[in-house]
Amino acid sequence: MDLAVRLRELLGPEGVLTAPADIAPYLVDHRRLYQGASPAVVAPASVADLQRLLAWCSETATPVVPQGGNTGYCGGATPDESGRQLVLSLRRLNRVRAVDPANFCLTVEAGCLLAQVQAAAAAANRYFPLSLGSEGSCQIGGNLATNAGGTSVLRYGMTRDLTLGLEVVLADGRLLSSLSPLRKDNTGYDLKGLFVGSEGTLGVISAACLKLYPAQRSTATAWVSIADPAAAIQLLGRLREGSGDRASSFELVPHVALELVLAHVPATRSPGTAHAPWYLLIELTSSASEDLQAVLEAALGRAIESGLVQDAAVARSEQQRADFWRLRESVPEAQRRAGGSLKHDVSIPVAAMPEFILRGARLVEQLAPEGYLIAYGHVGDGNLHFNLNQRPGADSAAFHAREAPLKRAIHDLVAELSGSFSAEHGIGRLKVGELERYAQPLELELMRGIKRLLDPQGIMNPGKVLRRPGS
Ligand code: FAD
Ligand code: MLT
Ligand code: ZN
Repeated sequence: MDLAVRLRELLGPEGVLTAPADIAPYLVDHRRLYQGASPAVVAPASVADLQRLLAWCSETATPVVPQGGNTGYCGGATPDESGRQLVLSLRRLNRVRAVDPANFCLTVEAGCLLAQVQAAAAAANRYFPLSLGSEGSCQIGGNLATNAGGTSVLRYGMTRDLTLGLEVVLADGRLLSSLSPLRKDNTGYDLKGLFVGSEGTLGVISAACLKLYPAQRSTATAWVSIADPAAAIQLLGRLREGSGDRASSFELVPHVALELVLAHVPATRSPGTAHAPWYLLIELTSSASEDLQAVLEAALGRAIESGLVQDAAVARSEQQRADFWRLRESVPEAQRRAGGSLKHDVSIPVAAMPEFILRGARLVEQLAPEGYLIAYGHVGDGNLHFNLNQRPGADSAAFHAREAPLKRAIHDLVAELSGSFSAEHGIGRLKVGELERYAQPLELELMRGIKRLLDPQGIMNPGKVLRRPGS
């Protein structure tokens, strides 16, 4: 029987796209690194449909690539070039099943946008802290599958830390349902934990029970000028001690990134602080009604007196706060608009961050003179986006030819400093070789064993995270 006819029998006509123009957006990743091919995009509208689909894929050994909002950076949601892999879009599984303020949790389906989850929590006077620049288009299922980080990890942790329960459809269509809101449950191995960060290679996440917090009542946000990353790390320690650990965001932006944002992204304005080589975007939050602006101003005042901070502006209005955040969150967009870029998403123990930036910058000068460094990101978590942009007028082929040797040198430096070559963006297809190089052999052996157990035919997102056996 014709594939499309069979798929429509399983999912109904609205659940299957085959026209080239309809499926084209699903076949390329956000960074346009990979262009895949597929016979169809399938979009089940219920968990029962999803189970039926995967049972059929298993019977027919048809490979499947789960796709959420397609905002991932490692090509994880893009099918390969074979034209055999189905794209499984979760966009129609998008119901908020339950909001439970008394248990401080909510249960949502995988295709809910992250912004939709945040709004559902807010409507119940609760707070869901996961926050990313892509929150208007990424899905909570994609966040879970990549164990996304973002701008409030310092206080609330990664997506894994916000996960109480999961519902997963296994490769053969069986349902692993573990949506309990329990905070304590020591009954054997943490099976649900295996699927967080598994990037669609072990099963399809269909729903999740997530932690909520009391609504935020007080916020103070500052844009701060500093001389170097060492000042940032010192200030982080002082602020955490001096504010009752209320710092929820602590983001680093170099001057070159601010210039790029102001030049390329509409509706951005200068933060108004003194020009400096580096800036911090700092946010304190609390669920109590308290004067956090005074706390932040006092801390920054002391830091200016002691010479640690050069200048600072504390946001006086919600508009000014939004303007500061727009500057920070527009850095990836500004990089994209400015032309070719090379990216490294690394983490280092926080205290080693200044050494890493110094030595990494030297490597960039030596190994990639056609590019300039834009090192920014979640410095409070020890996570930097150690990116480069092509210099205006530089030869594009020459710039991109620097990628492999530079990546090796940067990732070797990260390993020397006990860091990670993938802090929050995952492995996908892009970093399979890096995982093979930097993971311990025993770690790889165990990962391959788990993959064989949960996906014996290798139909779940083949070639992502782990290389296909024999390839
Ligand atoms: P997709 O890109 O569609 O998929 C990602 C992976 O998850 C793929 O391997 C896919 O197969 C798998 N997958 C998707 N849904 C499911 C499911 N239901 N079940 C099983 N597997 C599934 N990331 C951060 O961590 N921190 C940031 O601060 C951050 N900022 C960003 C800012 C911008 C402007 C952009 C464009 C991206 C940013 N990202 C960030 C990257 C990206 O948004 C995250 O990785 C996000 O979690 C991906 O979600 P998605 O729904 O788009 O997933
Ligand atoms: C960010 O923190 O802005 C993203 O994770 C990095 C990026 O979009 O390049
Ligand atoms: Zn980030």
